[in-house]
Amino acid sequence: MAVCSALAALAAALLLLLCGGGAEARVLLSLDDFGAVGDGIANDTQAFLDAWTAACSSGEQAVVAVPAGKAYRIWPVQLSGPCKKKLKLLISGAIVAPASPDEWAGRDPMKWLYIYGVDGLSVSGGGTIDGMGQQWWASTCKLKKTPPCYSGPRPKTVHFEECRGVSVQGVTLQNGQQFHLTFTRCSDVKASFLRVMAPADSPNTDGVHLNDSSHVRITDNLISTGDDCISMVGNCSDVRVKDISCGPGHGISIGSLGKNRTTDMVENVRVDTCLLTNTTNGVRIKTWQGGMGFARDLRFESILMKNTQAVEVRKVGFTDIRGTSATAQAISIACSDTVPCRELELKNVNLTREGGGQATAFCYRASGKTAGAVVPPSCLSK
Ligand SMILES: *[C@@H]1O[C@H](CO)[C@@H](O)[C@H](O)[C@H]1NC(C)=O
Ligand SMILES: *[C@@H]1O[C@H](CO)[C@@H](O)[C@H](O)[C@H]1NC(C)=O
Ligand SMILES: *[C@@H]1O[C@H](CO)[C@@H](O)[C@H](O)[C@H]1NC(C)=O
Ligand SMILES: *[C@@H]1O[C@H](CO)[C@@H](O)[C@H](O)[C@H]1NC(C)=O
Ligand SMILES: *[C@@H]1O[C@H](CO)[C@@H](O)[C@H](O)[C@H]1NC(C)=O
Ligand SMILES: *[C@@H]1O[C@H](CO)[C@@H](O)[C@H](O)[C@H]1NC(C)=O
Repeated sequence: MAVCSALAALAAALLLLLCGGGAEARVLLSLDDFGAVGDGIANDTQAFLDAWTAACSSGEQAVVAVPAGKAYRIWPVQLSGPCKKKLKLLISGAIVAPASPDEWAGRDPMKWLYIYGVDGLSVSGGGTIDGMGQQWWASTCKLKKTPPCYSGPRPKTVHFEECRGVSVQGVTLQNGQQFHLTFTRCSDVKASFLRVMAPADSPNTDGVHLNDSSHVRITDNLISTGDDCISMVGNCSDVRVKDISCGPGHGISIGSLGKNRTTDMVENVRVDTCLLTNTTNGVRIKTWQGGMGFARDLRFESILMKNTQAVEVRKVGFTDIRGTSATAQAISIACSDTVPCRELELKNVNLTREGGGQATAFCYRASGKTAGAVVPPSCLSK
């Protein structure tokens, strides 16, 4: 007896070790356990919601699996947090939307997979999320040439609102009704190893969209859609965009900021190592006159553009910038031959050379005005 229980205890200890050094136990839930059919036709919405509820209330870390080789048709849903423990959605099969906009009758037309208030959710698995946006696009006034046409809101395909510690990695998002992956009022977010695909003429099908979010890493993605590969509005800060293949599409954009006289503060955004191919724009910063706030500490580095129509920088103000520059050229505004930078404003700038001495400013095809003291003297043409 004593020997037996000692052996059992040893076996349990070994199992724990094998399962990751005493890590927490996990539960694996499959949509099929909740009665999902997965034939691409049946309504698997309730099964999906039930699996979410079970996983979210589980006292152990849960993995909700969407099995490979199957397609689950899901009507608009809200998945709400907070959950008891961290959660994983392992999407290896496909989640598909109803094709007809009529299915949204009586529902919020801006939502399909809407995830609210989660903390610690990862989405992965190599599968596909398909917004089936074709009928939505065809009805829009952008594409439909004969009346009546639709100019109202369309569902954001996957929308996280009020989230923390969310990662979406290694899945395909395709044919979004509108933006593919949106984060609103989120922090500590990762969007990596994604394929985001929609036709070049599909309207407003941005790849990854950020609104009022911070500490975001968007890396290692291939994004080919009908609008911006990556866009951000509102109060976004500490955003790193790196190693992105973008195009066709509109490029990477910050803004529009300050629309309708709002205050938008975009800060500390670094975009580097992006290959933009066949995009209508390169990197853009768009702001509105009359708006307040700022776009500051934005860095764009190592951007390679192929067959990109223009780089547009417009209505950007650089205000209250002071400090020292490591290089003699403290201000460099180099714009495109085809679309020069316009309506720039330098206001209260005082940049000197690190270690002392005068700095210089360089402008190419950039026009605008200055206000207050500007050191080194502005090079903007009128
Ligand atoms: C599919 O199931 C969900 C959840 O039960 C329900 O809200 C929706 O109306 C169903 N769709 C159809 C077309 O029956
Ligand atoms: C950003 O989010 C706010 C709500 O927090 C919303 O009112 C606004 O329309 C959003 N902006 C965009 C461009 O989606
Ligand atoms: C940005 O922050 C300002 C000031 O806190 C606020 O007035 C504004 O509504 C915010 N904008 C967005 C889009 O969240
Ligand atoms: C901006 O304000 C105008 C009226 O002042 C309104 O019609 C429009 O919907 C507003 N746009 C946004 C994006 O809030
Ligand atoms: C870019 O456009 C050219 C000509 O319009 C086309 O041949 C090429 O396949 C496109 N490349 C991509 C990656 O879409
Ligand atoms: C700019 O900064 C330097 C060093 O801090 C200072 O000496 C100088 O007076 C400043 N110039 C203006 C116009 O503020």
